[in-house]
Amino acid sequence: MFETLQPPPPDKILALSAAYRADPRTKKLDLGVGVYKDEAGDTVILRAVKEAERRLLASQTTKTYLSPAGDEGFNRAMAELALGADAPHDRLAVVQTVGGSGAVRLLSDLIAKAERGATVWFSDLTWPNHPAILKQAGLAFRTYPYFDPAARDVDWEAMRAALEGAGPGDVVLLHGCCHNPTGANLTPDHWRALTELSLKNGFTPFIDMAYQGFGDGLEADAAGLRLMAADVPEMLIAVSCSKNFALYRDRVGCAIALAATPEAAALTKENMKTLARVTYSMPPDHGAAVVRTILGDPALKADWIAELEAMRLRMLGLRRDLAEALRARTNSDAYDFIERHRGMFSLLGTAPDKVEALRDAHGVYLVGDSRANIAGLNRDTIATLVDALAAVEG
Ligand code: LMR
Repeated sequence: MFETLQPPPPDKILALSAAYRADPRTKKLDLGVGVYKDEAGDTVILRAVKEAERRLLASQTTKTYLSPAGDEGFNRAMAELALGADAPHDRLAVVQTVGGSGAVRLLSDLIAKAERGATVWFSDLTWPNHPAILKQAGLAFRTYPYFDPAARDVDWEAMRAALEGAGPGDVVLLHGCCHNPTGANLTPDHWRALTELSLKNGFTPFIDMAYQGFGDGLEADAAGLRLMAADVPEMLIAVSCSKNFALYRDRVGCAIALAATPEAAALTKENMKTLARVTYSMPPDHGAAVVRTILGDPALKADWIAELEAMRLRMLGLRRDLAEALRARTNSDAYDFIERHRGMFSLLGTAPDKVEALRDAHGVYLVGDSRANIAGLNRDTIATLVDALAAVEG
């Protein structure tokens, strides 16, 4: 039967990682996949994670099953991390998922189950796995304009005008912070206006929160989402622990549904558990137990926040230094947006043939749309990128 299969379209981010690994050159620079690297180029295990793992190793007595919802202590702590200390727990349905992608998939399945024929609107541009997951879940989708390439900022007027067309039964997918791939983010005023639009037109917001703590801070990054959650009757939130806990390969995240009433939340949770059960039965425990241990211990949590803040400040420093170096090299403010953007990524605006030349002639790997992972740079490689950009741009 397998001969009927068609070659799947390559995932451009994972294909780029494979090409980088296969490149025999010793002088090469990976600014592709979204992974934080320290000054030495390493993606280290966080101190707080190591300590939580030590405690778990010493205290865990069983590996018996939990439930399709995963670790409920983790679920509650994650709801508070995203929605704040006064999270409306009685209206929330939360299940632990296999990473943030698993949460996007589970919530997409939930939409398909609850609202046959729902259309999900996502930003043009977005993370390439968004449309792939929505398609696999059988959902229809449309795009809304998001990025103004000239201003290298959110094209708010175009976005708002397009979303006037989203109505009841529609779902609008938004990036909670640190927009991937553009690096341009919504302001609190935009979030307020989107909340009003959702209430007026009846669409359901779906927030992908993959980078909380990587933009303006742990609380500031969740401000828009919280603003919205305070007013809308229903909302979906996919949360990832891959980046802010650096638990990439442990695959831990959670899916949150905010329902209009406690009864609806309970019903939604049962449906989410069933979706998990028929997909993978139960999520892997280790990463969630680590996160629960960290968030449940004030000293350990404070240490994690300090580590996260250090990563965030380092990324801001890299943004500042890169923008400054490009200002000096180009004698223009053409790249000043890099300093204004937040999160791991910025779209540099390099044309596709020049992105190719960066890779082939200079060993500098950007995603084809010119997305650069700023967190893949260090003080030395900023110069490598600046030299390579200057060379290809002529
Ligand atoms: C990225 O966008 O590079 C990350 O979210 C990693 C991934 O899974 O694509």
